[in-house]
Amino acid sequence: MNAPVKLYEGKAKILYATDDPGVLLTYFKDDATAFNAQKRGSITGKGAINCAISSHLFQLLEAEGITTHWIDSPAPTEMRVKAVKILPIEVVVRNIAAGSLCQQTGIALGTVLAEPLVDFYYKNDELGDPLLTPQRLLLMELATAEQADTLRLKALQINEILSEFFQSCGITLVDFKLEFGLDAAQQILLADEISPDTCRLWNQSETDPARRVMDKDRFRQDLGDIEAGYQQVLDRVLAQPIQPGGERML
Ligand code: TMP
Ligand code: ASP
Repeated sequence: MNAPVKLYEGKAKILYATDDPGVLLTYFKDDATAFNAQKRGSITGKGAINCAISSHLFQLLEAEGITTHWIDSPAPTEMRVKAVKILPIEVVVRNIAAGSLCQQTGIALGTVLAEPLVDFYYKNDELGDPLLTPQRLLLMELATAEQADTLRLKALQINEILSEFFQSCGITLVDFKLEFGLDAAQQILLADEISPDTCRLWNQSETDPARRVMDKDRFRQDLGDIEAGYQQVLDRVLAQPIQPGGERML
């Protein structure tokens, strides 16, 4: 058998071609980066944990009527996905103020937002993933106005589903980042991953601001016990079976 053809290597994942042009294989790495790769490290077992959490959450979202790129997970660190063209937009949904929102606005860490905030960022490492205005998104032709509306609506719908799910795990979904792609029919599918690398997740049984962190902030802020935080998210997520819910309207 020929060696698999590597199509792209990112900071946390590698994308391979398969025999089917409509299907790609994602390999989840243990490598961790933060602050646009200025901080680098490795989190033992992270690849398998993030692959398992993402697979579970993609299946949950599919059961709730959200179309995703997920097909299956043939090995612990591998996910087969539908081939899509990734839109160069990072869609961040925030329920509670943290991270760059606090740094850029002065809003205090932990402030519950009156309604979820959807922020678009330009996915471009050289430019440091800058925050976009809706007008700049259109100016740069990163998406059409209709696609941007769809991304916003889908992100809010996903936020409702995931917030409720994490609540049932005793975890608060503070904020998270999504990426979307277009399939051959120009349909918008949820892509990339949803994991402690891409979400802020706070353990509801801890009140201490450092102890409650179960996500990549443990790595970003050198809080220690990173693997344990990720593993606890996985254990709690897998303990919640997926109940098919049918499409939800906003
Ligand atoms: P921020 O507060 O740093 O803007 O991050 C918001 C959310 O997006 C947080 O859950 C972490 C996630 N995120 C990524 O997944 N990738 C990134 O490159 C950045 C900056 C944030
Ligand atoms: N994933 C981004 C990076 O490496 C940033 C982050 O998650 O903090 O650089």
